[in-house]
Amino acid sequence: MPKVYITRRIFPEALEALKAEGIEFEMNEGPQLTKADLRAKLKKQEWEGLICLLTDRIDREVLEAAPRLKVVANVAVGYDNIDLVAATARGIMVTNTPGVLTETTADLAFALILSVARRIVEADRFVRAGKFAGWELLQPHLGVDVYGKILGIVGFGRIGRAVARRARGFDMEVLYYDELRDEEAERELAAKFVPFEELLERSDFISIHVPLTEKTRHMFDANAFQKMKKGACLINTARGPVVDEAALVEALKQGKIRGAGLDVYEEEPRVHPELLELENVVLLPHIGSATTETRLKMALMAVENLVTALRGRVPPNLVNREVLSR
Ligand code: NAP
Ligand code: GLV
Repeated sequence: MPKVYITRRIFPEALEALKAEGIEFEMNEGPQLTKADLRAKLKKQEWEGLICLLTDRIDREVLEAAPRLKVVANVAVGYDNIDLVAATARGIMVTNTPGVLTETTADLAFALILSVARRIVEADRFVRAGKFAGWELLQPHLGVDVYGKILGIVGFGRIGRAVARRARGFDMEVLYYDELRDEEAERELAAKFVPFEELLERSDFISIHVPLTEKTRHMFDANAFQKMKKGACLINTARGPVVDEAALVEALKQGKIRGAGLDVYEEEPRVHPELLELENVVLLPHIGSATTETRLKMALMAVENLVTALRGRVPPNLVNREVLSR
């Protein structure tokens, strides 16, 4: 019977699915394991499968601790937490959970666009503090319109396109930047491909949807903020390190950009202390995919990937396909 280690709590339905497949598992019921604890845990038994979260850094040393490991099933679409080169070299399959969280994450990106533009969180804090003294024309929370504005989408994949679809309902002009141009998607979504610099210069709202890679790390640095339209807003539901947080703080403090909506951070779960001080920033605790329906689908998808790999077949969401030709 293959043995599987699960690094954090997952839904009972997903555990039932493992049991139904005759898989023996152990799950960490406690807090996030340190790297040393995870290595120690993996060394203890002959694990063949690992179900992990995006908060687990699965690097070469961790993989070395589990010599019989065949599959790492990440419960996330992003897999920048896993050393793919090391996994492939060891013949380990790596899987992710694409698609099932696309609409949920796009909803949250749009919620951030609206929250930042209309200062919703700031206004809520104001009411709770007992400061609401009645309607007036020049109220303290005048925002900016979203309807009819220019939205720049960086990374026109599944989530980026789902955000573009929502933007059509707000009559927005949609610009996008991606490594590859997709003319069919452009026609379908009435979106226009532009170079990154043009997107920075023209967009009123920029929503980031690229994966974290060596190319996208600090894609939004001081230089990018300098090029952004004055008064634009930045939304990041992708990965924190795509944005240089110190440069973002400066751009916000100088009024170069109007506001930011962030679901992810450079050194998660740490948030840059100056971001916490700024009113024009909406800060969320990485909840892009966080609806019960979607998180359950992600867990079940990870189990399906894992079980398929352990049965010696190609899992539906294999990330490192090169492993097949080893
Ligand atoms: P996806 O379908 O792979 O879309 C990513 C897009 O970015 C692809 O079109 C990709 O092009 C493009 N891209 C890659 N590198 C680029 C670069 N250097 N410059 C411009 N474009 C580039 O992925 P997705 O499902 O939309 O998810 C996107 C990311 O969102 C995930 O990787 C994850 O980090 C993040 N995410 C966060 C949450 C959350 O809870 N906040 C939830 C879900 C996802 P190619 O396909 O040609 O590489
Ligand atoms: C969440 O951030 C994911 O990548 O699924």
